[in-house]
Amino acid sequence: MADTVIKKTRILITCAKGITPFLKDELTRLGFPVLSETIAGIATEGTMDDTLKLNLMLRTAQRVLFLIKEFSARDADELYRTLSKIAWEEYISEDGYVCVTSSVDNPSIRDSRYVNLKSKDAIVDRINTVRGRRPDSGHDKSNTVVNVYWKGRDGAVYLDTSGTTLSQRGYRKFPMSAPMQETLAAAVVLSTGWNGTHDFINPMCGSGTLAIEAALIALNRAVGLLRNNFGFMHIRGFNRQLWEELRAQAKKESQKKLNCRIIATDISRQAIEAAKKNATIAGVEHLIEFGVSDYAKTTMPGNSGIVILNPEYGERMGMKGMLEDIYKGIGDYFKQQCSGYTGYVFTGNLGMAKKIGLRAKRRIPFFNGGIECRLLEYELYPGSKREKNKAG
Ligand SMILES: C[S@@+](CC[C@H](N)C(=O)[O-])C[C@H]1O[C@@H](n2cnc3c(N)ncnc32)[C@H](O)[C@@H]1O
Repeated sequence: MADTVIKKTRILITCAKGITPFLKDELTRLGFPVLSETIAGIATEGTMDDTLKLNLMLRTAQRVLFLIKEFSARDADELYRTLSKIAWEEYISEDGYVCVTSSVDNPSIRDSRYVNLKSKDAIVDRINTVRGRRPDSGHDKSNTVVNVYWKGRDGAVYLDTSGTTLSQRGYRKFPMSAPMQETLAAAVVLSTGWNGTHDFINPMCGSGTLAIEAALIALNRAVGLLRNNFGFMHIRGFNRQLWEELRAQAKKESQKKLNCRIIATDISRQAIEAAKKNATIAGVEHLIEFGVSDYAKTTMPGNSGIVILNPEYGERMGMKGMLEDIYKGIGDYFKQQCSGYTGYVFTGNLGMAKKIGLRAKRRIPFFNGGIECRLLEYELYPGSKREKNKAG
């Protein structure tokens, strides 16, 4: 086993653009320091064993990258020579499989795939020289994944301990139209401050991502329990015993029952069927009340809680009028049927959002697949704000 695996090193945790505040909060709660942050990632530090916990627990992270070495290289040949000096045989089995990914901005490189190829060659040639056999290689991220970051001359090479992105929790086998990434949905739910103590109503639920993430949060269920494959499992020295202990501990800390109601509806029967199947895979189907219904006919079960909608926001040809009606209708629905609740609309169409016609109390920025979005928060009370203030 490599020394660097046992020693503390920099761990870079990537996330979707704009989600850093929620990731930071999660990391701090887990007791990890925040060394630096960017719009799409946070640097912390720890051992390879720590990456097991991070992969198991973090709801808003995309990848957990474990630093192997920082380097300086002018061109691809120098990169090859530098990477060949790393004792890859201590991390990767000669009978294994390696995939190299990269993020490159170097004047000598036109196509980052060339960097992947050169780096992969350096790794497998080194292992071949030392062990007499080379691992297989390719694009499959379900084995060992190495990530090369190279900007100008400076670079860093990491083991990607997540492998496939953590946003693929494994439960969404049936995505409907415009599904939200699981990590984004988790960040959206966390940003409302919801913790399972009051009801969560999600009309327009589509494939159910928001409701499923809400259920997982309320149960305090570690999202990594849903996956059985991570990059760290394919790195030499993988501490299987610790992994089993962490899983057992996470299961013990997870609740079985909710202290609130989660209701998810959609006008499309097909969407509800898909959402139910996804929730079954996530192990929370029995905790969510699903129903086929127009959003405006989704009735509030009590006098307080959260009502959250993610209407479509792409203005497809001939759809503008229909979208306008939906956004206007959401305003009426909030006003007439959701008094006492906190209303939320997640949208990437800020022009349409104005049609809701209510004053947003908070406008929380997010990005969804490169589109700038907002989670709009509305305090919903009967009558006008003046009447509410008068009432005390
Ligand atoms: C953007 S998708 C929601 C995606 C969802 N957040 C997910 O992660 O899968 C919008 C959903 O609104 C539903 N919808 C459209 N018009 C509706 C209406 N009038 N009442 C209820 N649902 C509606 C669509 O069927 C679609 O599933």
